[in-house]
Amino acid sequence: MLFLKPFAVLALALTASAAVPYNTFDGPGSPACNNVASVHNATSVKDIQSTVQKAIKAGQRVRASGKAHMWYDTMCSDDPNTVIIRTEEVNNIYDLDMNHGTVMIEAGVTFLQLAEYLHARGASAGYTLVNWNITLAGCVAMGAHRSSLKEDSMVAAGVLAMDIIDGNGELRHLERNNLDDTWLAASTSLGLLGVIVRMKFKVYPDFKVWADQKTLDESEVLDGDIFGMISPYATANYWWWPYKRKFHYRTYDVLPTDFSPQEGFQNTFSVTYPEAQAIKGIWESGRLLSSSNKLAEEILFAQWEAPNFREKTTNEPIDQWPVYGWNYDVLIGGLYPDQKPVWEYGLKGHTLELAFPVTHANAMLKRVRELFDAELRKGVFMTSTYRSGINIKFGRPYFDLLGQVTYNTADGADWSKGAIMFDFPSYRPSLGGGKRFNEPFYHKLAQVLVSEFPCRPHWTKNTREVFQLAAQYKKIDPGHLARFKAVREKFDPNGVFRSVVGEIIGVY
Ligand SMILES: Cc1cc2nc3c(=O)[nH]c(=O)nc-3n(C[C@H](O)[C@H](O)[C@H](O)COP(=O)(O)OP(=O)(O)OC[C@H]3O[C@@H](n4cnc5c(N)ncnc54)[C@H](O)[C@@H]3O)c2cc1C
Ligand SMILES: *[C@@H]1O[C@H](CO)[C@@H](O)[C@H](O)[C@H]1NC(C)=O
Ligand SMILES: *[C@@H]1O[C@H](CO)[C@@H](O)[C@H](O)[C@H]1NC(C)=O
Repeated sequence: MLFLKPFAVLALALTASAAVPYNTFDGPGSPACNNVASVHNATSVKDIQSTVQKAIKAGQRVRASGKAHMWYDTMCSDDPNTVIIRTEEVNNIYDLDMNHGTVMIEAGVTFLQLAEYLHARGASAGYTLVNWNITLAGCVAMGAHRSSLKEDSMVAAGVLAMDIIDGNGELRHLERNNLDDTWLAASTSLGLLGVIVRMKFKVYPDFKVWADQKTLDESEVLDGDIFGMISPYATANYWWWPYKRKFHYRTYDVLPTDFSPQEGFQNTFSVTYPEAQAIKGIWESGRLLSSSNKLAEEILFAQWEAPNFREKTTNEPIDQWPVYGWNYDVLIGGLYPDQKPVWEYGLKGHTLELAFPVTHANAMLKRVRELFDAELRKGVFMTSTYRSGINIKFGRPYFDLLGQVTYNTADGADWSKGAIMFDFPSYRPSLGGGKRFNEPFYHKLAQVLVSEFPCRPHWTKNTREVFQLAAQYKKIDPGHLARFKAVREKFDPNGVFRSVVGEIIGVY
C-alpha cells in the first residue's frame, strides 16, 4: 500500500491533466473527442499547413473541426495526443465567376456566410445546402446533405475542385473526376485524407422559391406512394409525429422572381427563453413519464402546423402557407433576432440517422411503426421528443465511395432511385445519466433496422454502437472500403487523421 499510493496519485494526476475534451455544439458533457492535447484556432491556409507539419514532427494526430455540429464522440481517434485545428477563422470567399458559375471558399466558410456573400451579388448555392452555422468543408468531409430526390443535394455534389493538406503536410489539389478513385474518395473522405482547406464550389443566379406544408394521416405515408410525393420537388421531406400518428409533408420549388414580394425567412432551431424553459421542464419529466412526452408532442405538433417563417423585412410572423422568398432564406434561414437555438438554452439531444433505398421506404417506416406498437402493447407510449418530430429526408443518387446515397454496391439493393433517411433526434435529459424514456427501445430500433434492411449510417449522427452494427452487418460496400483505404494509404500513410469512424469501418 505504501508503495502503491504515490503511483496511484501520480497516475490520477496525469490522467486528470490530460483529459481535455473537445465538445460538440451541445457543449460540456457532449464530447466530439474525449481527450485532446490542444485546440488551435487556425488563421490561414498556410497556418493550417504549418500546424499539421508541426504535429506530424511531434508525433501527434490531427483532426480539423468547423463548428462541431455533430453528435457523438466520433470525431477523433481515442489517442489523447491529438491536435484539433479549428477552421472558423479561415473563411475567405473569393473569385466569384458568374460566367462559369463558380466561387472559391476556404475551410471555415459556413452556409450562412456563403449565402450572404452570394445573395449580395445576385447568386446562390442552389440546393447543396445543409444548415446555417455549419462549414461546407465539414459537410463535404462527412457526406452531409439536404433532402431531395430531384436535385443534387449532397454538399459534395457542388464541389468542382478541392485542396487538401495530407498526412505528409503537403497541399494536394484535386479536380472533379468521377472516374478517378482519388476524387471518389475525397468526395466523402470522413476527414481521413487530411484537412480540406479550400474548395471551388458551383453557384447559380439567385432565385426565389416557395415552401408549402400539408398534414397527412400516418396511413397516407405508410401506405402511400412516397417516391411520387417526394420526387417532383426540388426539396421535400416529412416530419413524423408518432404519438399523433401524423406527418407534416413539406415541399419547396422554384418561383418566378416577380411572383410575390414576400421575403420569407425560415427558423428551424431557435426559440424564446420562456418557450425553451417550458419545453425543457416537460421533457425532463418525460424521462420517467410518457404522459409528459405525449403532451410535448401535442404542443410541438400544433406549433409545427404553422409556417416556421417570418417576413425578413419586418420580422413579422408569416401565418399562411405557401411561403415565398429567396432561395437560402426559405430553404435554410437562420435565427430570429430575439431567439437562440435550443442548444444554447441547455436542451441537448441524441440522434440516429440511417439511409435506406427509397424502394424500401414503406417497408422501413412500417417496421418502425410495428416497433412503436409493440411498445404500446406493453403500455409504453413512444413519442417524438424533438422540436420538429422525426425527420424523414431523401437523397438523390450521387456516386462516390463512402457517401450515403451512392449506388452499384454489393448489397444488391437498388439505390439507383435514391435514398430515404430516417433521422430520429430525441431529447437527452440532464438527469439519469442522459438516459431517455424507455432507453433500451432506441438501441433495439437501431439493431432491427441495421440487421433487417440495406442501409447506411450518416457519418456524424450516430453512436459508435451504430457504426459497429453497420460494420458487423457489412452495410458499407467492401469493394468501396478497399478502394477508399488504398487512397487513404497514399494520402495519410501514418494515420495522422484517423478517427473512431475510420477505425470501426476498417480503413486502418
Ligand atoms: C442543427 C444541425 C442540423 C444538421 N442538419 C443536417 C442535415 O440536414 N443534413 C446533414 O446531412 N447533416 C446535418 N447536420 C450534420 C452536419 O452537417 C455535419 O455534422 C457536419 O459535418 C458539421 O460540420 P461542422 O463544420 O460543424 O464540422 P465539425 O462538426 O466540426 O466536424 C465534423 C467532422 O468533419 C471533420 N471535418 C470538419 N472540417 C473538416 C475539414 N475542413 N477537413 C477535413 N475534415 C473536416 C471533423 O474532423 C469531424 O470528423 C446537422 C447538424 C446540426 C448540429
Ligand atoms: C478559439 O476560438 C473560440 C471560438 O471563437 C474561442 O472560444 C477560443 O477561446 C479560441 N481559442 C483561443 C486559444 O484563442
Ligand atoms: C454559430 O456557432 C457559434 C459557435 O461555434 C456560436 O457562437 C454562434 O452564436 C453561432 N451563430 C449563429 C448565428 O447561430
